[in-house]
Amino acid sequence: MTMESNITRDENSLPCLTIPLADEQATVDLGNQMAAVIKTELNQGIVVYLNGDLGAGKTTLTRGFVQGMGHSGNVKSPTYTLVEPYELADWHVYHFDLYRLADPEELEFMGIREYFNEHCCCFIEWPEKGEGLLASADMMINIAYQGDGRIVELVAKSELGKQLLIALNKRG
Ligand SMILES: Nc1ncnc2c1ncn2[C@@H]1O[C@H](COP(=O)(O)OP(=O)(O)O)[C@@H](O)[C@H]1O
Ligand SMILES: [Mg+2]
Repeated sequence: MTMESNITRDENSLPCLTIPLADEQATVDLGNQMAAVIKTELNQGIVVYLNGDLGAGKTTLTRGFVQGMGHSGNVKSPTYTLVEPYELADWHVYHFDLYRLADPEELEFMGIREYFNEHCCCFIEWPEKGEGLLASADMMINIAYQGDGRIVELVAKSELGKQLLIALNKRG
């Protein structure tokens, strides 16, 4: 058995890791693990697209990530503000929720391009609403309901995303 044994290929033959998340804490933990890998192994920013129905756990996962990156306060959903910035000592994390985005032009007005650079981690809920204006994803995360819990599919969309996937798989 190799270290990569849990990594499969999705329908577009991209590297893919599927993980059951039994409860809210498991979702938070996954976000925490992602932060740990970014901080201690990859040492560079990342763009993550989050897909899943309302209530699937996109914000919960992001909360785990933001807190894992060193933020100690609350993480609230930026449903009305579109973006919530967390300017931490070594990292800038931007949490987007584009659910209420009426016109993609709003993203131009808010200077969306400024948010995507090497030292920033961007987690984006409802990325399809900003199609064409967002940086491409390193990782796409699909969260679905499964019984009382959730099942999450992590899809690597870049070399960096693949490194993150492999590191998460190793951590188990
Ligand atoms: N793995 C899980 N199993 C069961 N419930 C979960 C899990 N992860 C998160 N939840 C719960 O589901 C809800 C997710 O809400 P939220 O993260 O705001 O969803 P979204 O941002 O996708 O709309 C929260 O009530 C949270 O406690
Ligand atoms: Mg949300």
